[in-house]
Amino acid sequence: MSFENCILAIDQGTTSTRAIVFSETGKIICSAQQEFTQHYPDDGWVEHDPEEIWSGTLKVCREALSEGKTLGARVVTIGITNQRETTLVWDKKTGKAIYNAIVWQDRRTAAVCDKLRTDATLELVQSKSGLLLDPYFSATKVAWVLDNVEGARQRANDGELAFGTIDSFLIWRLTGGKEHLTDVTNASRTNLFNINSLCWDDELLALFNVPDTLLPEVKECADDFGITDSALFGEAIPINGVAGDQQAATVGQCCFQEGSIKSTYGTGCFVLLNTGDKVLTSKNNLLSTIAYQINGKVSYALEGSIFIAGAAVQWLRDGIGVIEDARETETMAQNLNYEHGVYMVPAFAGLGAPYWDPLARASIFGMTRATSPDHFARAALESVAYQTFDLLEAMSQDGVTATSINVDGGMVANNWVCQFISDVLNIEVARPEIMETTALGAAYLAGLKAGIYESMDDLAQKHAIERKFNPELAEATRNKLLSGWKAAIQSTLNFLY
Ligand code: G3P
Repeated sequence: MSFENCILAIDQGTTSTRAIVFSETGKIICSAQQEFTQHYPDDGWVEHDPEEIWSGTLKVCREALSEGKTLGARVVTIGITNQRETTLVWDKKTGKAIYNAIVWQDRRTAAVCDKLRTDATLELVQSKSGLLLDPYFSATKVAWVLDNVEGARQRANDGELAFGTIDSFLIWRLTGGKEHLTDVTNASRTNLFNINSLCWDDELLALFNVPDTLLPEVKECADDFGITDSALFGEAIPINGVAGDQQAATVGQCCFQEGSIKSTYGTGCFVLLNTGDKVLTSKNNLLSTIAYQINGKVSYALEGSIFIAGAAVQWLRDGIGVIEDARETETMAQNLNYEHGVYMVPAFAGLGAPYWDPLARASIFGMTRATSPDHFARAALESVAYQTFDLLEAMSQDGVTATSINVDGGMVANNWVCQFISDVLNIEVARPEIMETTALGAAYLAGLKAGIYESMDDLAQKHAIERKFNPELAEATRNKLLSGWKAAIQSTLNFLY
């Protein structure tokens, strides 16, 4: 059997890197995955080793390409999707990073953000970048590297250094240092990019003290991002699609209509609502961001960002060892009823939308001597649905009320989670056939540019739902659960460290 026009999607996420070969009909032919080390060098700091990311990326790509070849797949283009905001600064001559990647969850620049925060700067930042002033975004992380690595600021001013999010770093490495590029969606997460004019913004660069000599050129999502160095994979393959992972999932879920909405449950959880060609500015602490730019046309999104979703389950496994495998949580959750009374507020990396408290710490409420690992598992899974509720409530206060939601990401393989999300949100939850929508979105973007797909309508026709979940919970129970959650959040926000 042979498969023509295949696409290699590279999904460089927060905890693992995946390479997936898709057929032109959007089916997975083969894949490879590798987890990598999380470094926590200080309180609230999170770093990745750029060389481990690079070697892992090469490894999974080589594995997927070689298995694909055995299965008759001819890969003609590459799409890249990535953990967003994570910041790297590297030497343009050697391609070596001058400091570890500072991960999006890293809170080290919280005090810098506080110092910058005035009514005027908030207005400037929100109106131009669509974002808020928070250590989550790249700008303060870049400045931190320049101010804390000896000689870096001078070298940046002399044009010797390059800044990029992970997409940019991978493009640089994959093209043998020939291309310093990013796409509009990744640029829109830096706090330095003007989402209205689609340019790096001088006022924002000045505010965050980042020199423009560092910046990559910004392209559309389906575009020419260079050709891989043939020494890497034995052949030169064009890179034709790039988007941040949440935007790629939006494309993979075919949320192309204004008003369509998706929620991805990976390390964190990110809800994106397509707002069409208009930037919708939130009054309730949500973000305005670029959903995608294809064939010159930009679509914007309103985004709610939760920093910990699957990471809470990962903490149960790697942090306190109450489970061995994330899959155990489905049965553990089912062992309890709705009255179990335990809440987890998983503020392990502060709280994102709609609370934005970088200094908040994770908390557990309602324990008794009868509290067991099952309670921890259930409270962790429930917290994901409650946090999604908070985002949808904020969206509804901004004037958009969701009537159904498309979900994806590793966690939604868990039926109990999907049902509980539907119960708590009180709306239909739709799970797609291909749950790897992030990688699929990157493949779609590359396929659009490479001419494998004719149009976005062509893609939308392929989109298939595997299962729908509908609300089943009695209203009184739902209200009781939600008021317990609100109290838990309030106590977390009030707690002083
Ligand atoms: O903004 C951070 C986001 O891109 C990380 O995504 O999939 O690692 O939760 P994920």
